[in-house]
Amino acid sequence: MTAVEKIQAWEALDSRGRPTVAARVVLDDGSEGVATVPSGASAGSHEAHELRDGGSRYAGRGVRTAVANITAVLAPRVVGLEPAEVDAALAAADSSASFTTVGANAVLAVSLAVHRAAAAAHGRSLARYLAGDDGPLLLPMPMVNILSGGAHAGGALDIQDFLAIPVGAASFAEAIEWSGAVRDTATRIALARGYGQAVLVADEGGLGLPLETNHAALELLIDAIEAAGYTPGAQVAIAIDVAATQFLRDGRYRFAREDRDLTSEQLVAEVGDWCDRFPIVSVEDVLAEDDWDGWRYATEVLGPRVELVGDDLFVTSPRLLGRGIGDGVANSVLVKVNQNGLVSGATDVIALARSAGYRTVVSARSGETEDSWLSDLSVGWRAGQIKVGSTHRSERTAKWNRLLELEACEDTVFAGPWPDGRPVKETA
Ligand code: PGA
Ligand code: ZN
Repeated sequence: MTAVEKIQAWEALDSRGRPTVAARVVLDDGSEGVATVPSGASAGSHEAHELRDGGSRYAGRGVRTAVANITAVLAPRVVGLEPAEVDAALAAADSSASFTTVGANAVLAVSLAVHRAAAAAHGRSLARYLAGDDGPLLLPMPMVNILSGGAHAGGALDIQDFLAIPVGAASFAEAIEWSGAVRDTATRIALARGYGQAVLVADEGGLGLPLETNHAALELLIDAIEAAGYTPGAQVAIAIDVAATQFLRDGRYRFAREDRDLTSEQLVAEVGDWCDRFPIVSVEDVLAEDDWDGWRYATEVLGPRVELVGDDLFVTSPRLLGRGIGDGVANSVLVKVNQNGLVSGATDVIALARSAGYRTVVSARSGETEDSWLSDLSVGWRAGQIKVGSTHRSERTAKWNRLLELEACEDTVFAGPWPDGRPVKETA
């Protein structure tokens, strides 16, 4: 049996140049694990608490307090424990529901680094260690950001993400190749249509184009899929992350660029209309985080047609996902480990979703690092789908590259192609 011998922590930088927490855990057999945590911009208000210092350093975003909490509060409780005991000890270290005192960023850095160290102690990849068996691992179907709006692109579009899903690809490598072709073709089309210098690379590596309407973004995406040589729907389908929490104003959903205010029902009808016209197979956060009545309606109307994913709605919380399952709300869950704070907590969400027939989409944050543990988690959990941004920007390619490495080096199967371009219900 190995036990935790030492924990070190420091302030690192994320892809937006903001501070984030990193930790290194050493076990008494010499195995070690290092991990860096990500950070969201369109974060849900019910997420586990990300502790920031305030004050003047880094515009108040410093994480020295969280780093100090690792060494002063968490390490004394964790040193001497076996890796499998650590997450429970971390949970007990902060009696608040969402790690308000210690900081979920502090907790997650330790949780991840311990899992990495434990995998190293077993001489296994983190993916294989998390799977806990010797069966084939599952490479997820990628959902790749092509056009970005909302909080990730200075409000260039109201809808946050327009993504390509290479549903017809037969391997993960082919899925990335097709996605990259669509991303590059979208750039060429944008330049040809005169966007010139306005072709900005947004926070997740997608194009930040100031298009007039959300509809125009969907049209450009279809044009890019076709011009890249793929059949829309059958080979490359579309996903959107509406991220509706971001544009709820006084009880109405505000499309600022179109100067329209919509009720929940009207927004659902609008998205339904897009689903009629475009091969959209997955819709995330179609309504805001606390609009449960609207979500019930949305699930009745859109649930039978598309994958309806709860991100801000469920915030990777077993309690909120349990409520959604009980209420028949959504049919899929986005899994962001830092919304929860613990690897084991996110693992519980995967298990709960699976038991209820909800699909699981593992996701990065808009503020990421070059760390690629997320890829191992998605494969080890056999989650079936992953969303980490575009094929541009190194903090994004780090995840794709790790998945390509796992495809080359581990015993894996790929989650695609999706029959009829639709998500497969069972991913386990
Ligand atoms: P965030 O966005 O990381 O900025 O919260 C990602 C998402 O909404 O899916
Ligand atoms: Zn989202």
